[in-house]
Amino acid sequence: MVPVLLFPLLFLGPAVAQETQDGLYSLTYYSIGISRPNEGFPSFQATGYLNDQAFLHYDSESEKAEPLGPWKHVKGMVDWEEVSKTQKARGDFFLKNLKDIMDLYKDTGNHTMQEKYGCKIRNNNYCGAFWTIAYDGQDYIKFDTEIPAWIPLQPKALNTKVKWETEGSVWRAKSSLEEECTQKLQKYLQYSRTFLDRQDPPSVSVTSHGDLGHIRILRCLAYNFYPRPISVYWTQAGNVVETESWGEGSLSENGTYQAWVVIKIPSSDRGPYSCHVQHSSLAQPLAVLWNERQ
Ligand SMILES: *[C@@H]1O[C@H](CO)[C@@H](O)[C@H](O)[C@H]1NC(C)=O
Ligand SMILES: *[C@@H]1O[C@H](CO)[C@@H](O)[C@H](O)[C@H]1NC(C)=O
Repeated sequence: MVPVLLFPLLFLGPAVAQETQDGLYSLTYYSIGISRPNEGFPSFQATGYLNDQAFLHYDSESEKAEPLGPWKHVKGMVDWEEVSKTQKARGDFFLKNLKDIMDLYKDTGNHTMQEKYGCKIRNNNYCGAFWTIAYDGQDYIKFDTEIPAWIPLQPKALNTKVKWETEGSVWRAKSSLEEECTQKLQKYLQYSRTFLDRQDPPSVSVTSHGDLGHIRILRCLAYNFYPRPISVYWTQAGNVVETESWGEGSLSENGTYQAWVVIKIPSSDRGPYSCHVQHSSLAQPLAVLWNERQ
């Protein structure tokens, strides 16, 4: 008999764990500009991330850059006055660019521009960068550091490419990504490794719901773990059981993840079934047993 195993193992984002162990770190800024924000809402906001953790937020209402999460207690990593000033200048420039793009489309009213900007280092050396701009949720233009050049991602973006390149932004953009961003990331890492290299082992809970007549639902939840990659699956008598559904939570307030895996079994089945959890924080996989008495 050949068992049908659609999702025999669940590996949620395995790349990231490998990467942190290889010494891969990233600094990313997500920014958004809105041409007509609602009353009291900022027209420009930026959030800075080290790997998957937000550490900085700026908005044009407060005109202040502020630390987030555990970085509230870090001294000396960021000159907050200076970053507030540079973010304010960046916000003004960002909204001017949004206006220019709206003019190209002859758009009026409420429109948005979003940006993802950042760099990566491996073993403390630059190993890649990204800079993409979207208009009304659609990719508009991106920067290629190799050529180097702005690459239009929509026909109208060719105008923007020509304008920015004529203004001489290409070498500035390249050095901003490859040098300034990288140096900043190297500096920030000296203050942040304890948060980024953290290994919080998962807690595991197993629940059963028998309210579907002849079907029983077994749910295995792993929670309070970091980093994100994890593998969760059910077995019966040593064989992997096909997963019915699964999900994962986003990074919680206190900087941990959760993930769950659900299987369906006949109500008459007394088990036992085992939920297995593998995570980089664990020397050995965890196994939690379920049988009908639970
Ligand atoms: C403009 O769009 C943004 C983002 O979609 C939204 O948050 C904001 O409320 C809108 N402004 C108005 C005046 O509707
Ligand atoms: C995270 O928060 C939950 C409750 O929201 C708590 O049970 C848990 O212990 C916290 N985890 C860590 C690692 O602080």
